[in-house]
Amino acid sequence: MIFGGVGDLSVRKLLPALFMAHRHGNLPKATRIHALGRQAWDKTMFLSFIQEKVPGFIGEASQQPDFTSAWASFLDRLNYVSLDATQSGDFVALGAALQPGSTRVHYFATAPSLFTHICAHLSANGLIDARTRVVLEKPLGHDLASAQQINDEVGRYLHESQIFRIDHYLGKETVQNLMVLRFGNTIFEPLWRSPYIKSVQITVAESVGVGSRAGFYDGTGALRDMVQNHLLQLLCIVAMEPPVSLDPDAVRDEKLKVLRSLRPMSVADVARDTVRGQYTAGASEGDAAVGYLQEANIPPDSNTETFVALKVHINNWRWANVPIFLRTGKRMAERRSEIVIEFADLPFMLFPDAPRQPVNRLMIRLQPEEHVQLQMMAKEPGSGMRLRPVSLNLDLESAFAGRRAEAYERLLMDVIKGRLTHFMRRDELEAAWTWVEPILNGWQLLNEKPKAYTAGTWGPAASSALMARENAAWVEEA
Ligand code: BG6
Repeated sequence: MIFGGVGDLSVRKLLPALFMAHRHGNLPKATRIHALGRQAWDKTMFLSFIQEKVPGFIGEASQQPDFTSAWASFLDRLNYVSLDATQSGDFVALGAALQPGSTRVHYFATAPSLFTHICAHLSANGLIDARTRVVLEKPLGHDLASAQQINDEVGRYLHESQIFRIDHYLGKETVQNLMVLRFGNTIFEPLWRSPYIKSVQITVAESVGVGSRAGFYDGTGALRDMVQNHLLQLLCIVAMEPPVSLDPDAVRDEKLKVLRSLRPMSVADVARDTVRGQYTAGASEGDAAVGYLQEANIPPDSNTETFVALKVHINNWRWANVPIFLRTGKRMAERRSEIVIEFADLPFMLFPDAPRQPVNRLMIRLQPEEHVQLQMMAKEPGSGMRLRPVSLNLDLESAFAGRRAEAYERLLMDVIKGRLTHFMRRDELEAAWTWVEPILNGWQLLNEKPKAYTAGTWGPAASSALMARENAAWVEEA
């Protein structure tokens, strides 16, 4: 059941992901997909809407010769129920459409303000039992109190083990691979700590602007939209201790410990260690791009940040004195998500001609390409001892040819199979908000205005200055 079944997320991500799972034979035979929406449509009207909208988001698979038959058999699984989530009576029709005794997954792809109504009406209509699962889509709150409220309300009807809080970054192949890189190899873990690691940088850069999401984005900003969830989740996987098993709670316990060890930011820290930015007119991927304030439906005096850079510390033995830099933004120079682990400087310089730059770096590219590079110093051929950085390259796409599932497909299959490991537990979500909230409050107290950066660049100059103060540089500047 997809609440918000004809909405943007459903059309762009969920239905394409379910189609791909169907096409590759991964959906159980009896699976039926019910899209729920307020439109007073019948099934035929819904199917023609889907037919028009969804194939464009399926990518290459929609060009394959077997697409037509796979698509037709996928449509056979679909149903539409017209339903207003605030009206209990509308859930009667939903109940009538469902097969008794089956495992039911309810995906809440709606505004969180509807979550309580949906849970209450499902419950009142006898549509929740021990085999029911719900998927909660972000944004899960805009601060700690609102996140707690959502969790309390959903928790009145469902046990924590039935609640799948989705963060699609946890479904990305390379993010899951990071666990394997760390805990499926022996060579990195002994060095994965202070003082062998000098700094860590995590970048999630997007080239797109706010697009058609002005209404949502302007009230949200980059810190809530990206840092509170995706970047902190990446940080957890980079920084956590080895879990004792892959059991959901074993992994989530370790991630929670990282979130609880983040050094809280005082107002002075916020002033020194955070940068807010907002893009101005420039160019993006060869085309002219308007500034954020000129985007459709953005108030001309908006203070919303479209870029954030932060210096973060983790208060524990492993990460003592290791600055961790996070940054994310829209309309940046390119689409690139990457984790860079910079190892310590040489304790003694034997080679006088060595370049003055970081010696060993592990670079984990999450997207658009998937690769891991280990930068090492090597001798340039010729007389003399001239050093030059070279990379050991592991291209994961060529090492593992074949289809790679999109994050939503992988995570939806996890929900269907009841695997919670890659979903956020309540305490994780709340710990993330607990750390993020003082930054939001600090900005307000400081009356911090976002700094301008030209669309198509790497963000405001203050972001480079934040690094320079720690004797570090963003990877493209080093
Ligand atoms: C979403 C944010 O969670 O993630 C969007 O709301 C952002 O603003 C998107 O564009 C980025 O996801 P991806 O998978 O394209 O990196």
